[in-house]
Amino acid sequence: MLKRFSISLEEQLLERFDAYISEHGYVNRSEAVRDLIRKEFVGAEWEQDGEVAGVITLVFNHHQALLQEKITEIQHDYYTLITSTTHVHMDHDNCLEVIIVKGQASLIRELAEKMIALRGVKNGNLTMTSTGHHLH
Ligand code: NI
Repeated sequence: MLKRFSISLEEQLLERFDAYISEHGYVNRSEAVRDLIRKEFVGAEWEQDGEVAGVITLVFNHHQALLQEKITEIQHDYYTLITSTTHVHMDHDNCLEVIIVKGQASLIRELAEKMIALRGVKNGNLTMTSTGHHLH
């Protein structure tokens, strides 16, 4: 059920917010405010080491000695967190691996950091989200 409330903002801040809304393609202020609030709550779940979800992406050179083996070995050490892994051969040299994870925030961070730190990983990212059951 949706409830309405009103917000008072300084004119300049409201102008910036409206610019943000049109840049991001929101249809109205309410949807933008809802997303900002949810984003803040997702961040809080990560900070409180709650049950969260995320996506780890890795781009790496598969010619780097033993790199694929190391990535796989780390994933086996944290297998309870991993929902699925997709490997894409991007071109002759580069691979993209996308790992969907769910579990305790600190362990997911640990898993992501270990893989991203490996030599030969050119780009690594952890996108933090939440299973969402606190975020209706
Ligand atoms: Ni590949």
